[in-house]
Amino acid sequence: MKLGIIAAMTIEADLIKAAMTDVNAEEISGITFISGKLGQCDAVVAVCGIGKVFAALCTQTMILRYAPDYVINTGVGGTLTDKLGIGDLAVSAAVVQHDMDTSPLGDPVGMISGINVIEMPADKSMVEKVCAICEAKGIRHYCGTIASGDQFIASREKKDWIVSTFAGIACEMEGASVGQVCYVNKVPFVILRAISDSADGGACEDFPTFAANAAKTSASVVLALAGL
Ligand code: ADE
Repeated sequence: MKLGIIAAMTIEADLIKAAMTDVNAEEISGITFISGKLGQCDAVVAVCGIGKVFAALCTQTMILRYAPDYVINTGVGGTLTDKLGIGDLAVSAAVVQHDMDTSPLGDPVGMISGINVIEMPADKSMVEKVCAICEAKGIRHYCGTIASGDQFIASREKKDWIVSTFAGIACEMEGASVGQVCYVNKVPFVILRAISDSADGGACEDFPTFAANAAKTSASVVLALAGL
């Protein structure tokens, strides 16, 4: 089994990169793809940069060049629910792009024209494995819709809007872009986001304080998925 692992920031990928063996690095479009072995799996790991465009570029390149069986997007996110506090893990049942909006033309908010879907479902078997790992490791987790957009969410108003419009459980800036590219390529995916912040007025203070530790929690689940 070959895992394609994508993180937006280096702090989200460091633990995984350090665990890889037989590594080979290749740079494409400014993104370094590190391929090799991760535990019992073949793997390729990339830090894509922040936001949906970098995430899409990275995911499509990874699929075409390395043909992963599964794509896993690991990292941190803001919480949209009381069920997830700092350090807990949001697991994607599905992903949505909260900043996709052609509603003036009569479409539902969030619908991606062309494929005409709002939510893109994550791979059920991967979601189940991730939840089982969290249970075994004692990581508090919750499964639901992860909402992505090219915005750092740091206001109560915006947070409430994403919750009321999409019933999101966590917000971040890449997952639904990874999900869309996987969806059109028919590659199964899962998005993991350990909570780094409140996604409201306190988010800008939370994020620098908690992101590094949260990133490690999410990466540790990826390692476990690879049998480490
Ligand atoms: N990543 C981590 N926290 C986030 C937030 N509040 N909004 C968007 N992306 C994030």
